[in-house]
Amino acid sequence: MSSLTDVQAHALTEAQNRIQQDLLTALDAFAIPEPLKGAVHHAVMLGGKRVRPALCYAAGSLKNNANAAAVRRAAVAIEFIHCYSLAHDDLPCMDNDLLRRGQPTCHAAFGEDTALLAGDILQSMAFEVLGSRLFDQGPAVEAPIVLKQMQILATAASKMVNGQVLDLQAEGKKIAQDALENIHRNKTGALITAAVMMAAVTLFEGTDQAIPKLREYGQAVGLAFQVQDDILDIVSDTDVLGKTAGKDQQVEKSTYPALMGLEQAKAYAQELHNQAMDALAYFGDDAAQLIYITQFLLSRKS
Ligand code: IPE
Ligand code: IPE
Ligand code: MG
Ligand code: MG
Ligand code: MG
Repeated sequence: MSSLTDVQAHALTEAQNRIQQDLLTALDAFAIPEPLKGAVHHAVMLGGKRVRPALCYAAGSLKNNANAAAVRRAAVAIEFIHCYSLAHDDLPCMDNDLLRRGQPTCHAAFGEDTALLAGDILQSMAFEVLGSRLFDQGPAVEAPIVLKQMQILATAASKMVNGQVLDLQAEGKKIAQDALENIHRNKTGALITAAVMMAAVTLFEGTDQAIPKLREYGQAVGLAFQVQDDILDIVSDTDVLGKTAGKDQQVEKSTYPALMGLEQAKAYAQELHNQAMDALAYFGDDAAQLIYITQFLLSRKS
């Protein structure tokens, strides 16, 4: 019998394989001139854990889904926005990083101008994909569902940018815990929550209790994700992370370990994961995939 860890790994590997194919299909649908095309492929196709698509698929399979194509488009769209956010996050005017996913960052490989534009076009393409009929096999998904997905993604992408501004402003400063929580919920939590909610609206009406439960789940796991990212910057190493370890301390980022110490930050990540699991209890066994991914997230090393 396979261990729980094997099952968790399988849930994620399957999602990674699916999204890899769908990302390529989606990118091939656009005519992008070189060198932008190379930069976009670099930012999107080279590695990454694909956590947001995995969450999107898992939430979209909480029950039989007649709108599976809309879930696939949402997974591509959220990963496009995420990859754009990383290409911009690494720019010299932002975090100034040279290593990402074990590769040179987009601007290190293609220049700042092209990396900036790669991020820009990925943002637009995310919405084009959401509004397209890519992956449709049956009738078109109802327009109100597509509209809700677009709204969810647009709101989360704006929050990500707002969070990034606050993150940069907080460098070298000592800020209060509620201010740090606000940064993390915006810069990272919002997109992770959106990954879950864009799938949720393909399955559940707005009045269904499943909607607030999934939002609660997404918010808890989304905040936990950035708390862990802060922890991993300290406890992991560059080879495993695929990005430069110890960078947050070097530039005096406001992080959870900096604010409350490493052990407290770890305890807080665990507490947030418990909250996320509690929210999933509402779905019983149907949430198996989401539970596997949540367990994987808590034990992740990169
Ligand atoms: C890194 O995100 C940036 C954050 C929002 C913390 P991931 O850890 O999901 O990065 P990839 O996609 O796996 O490279
Ligand atoms: C990134 O946070 C959040 C984004 C919106 C991209 P970080 O700056 O901590 O992410 P890493 O550590 O560079 O991946
Ligand atoms: Mg950053
Ligand atoms: Mg960064
Ligand atoms: Mg980080």
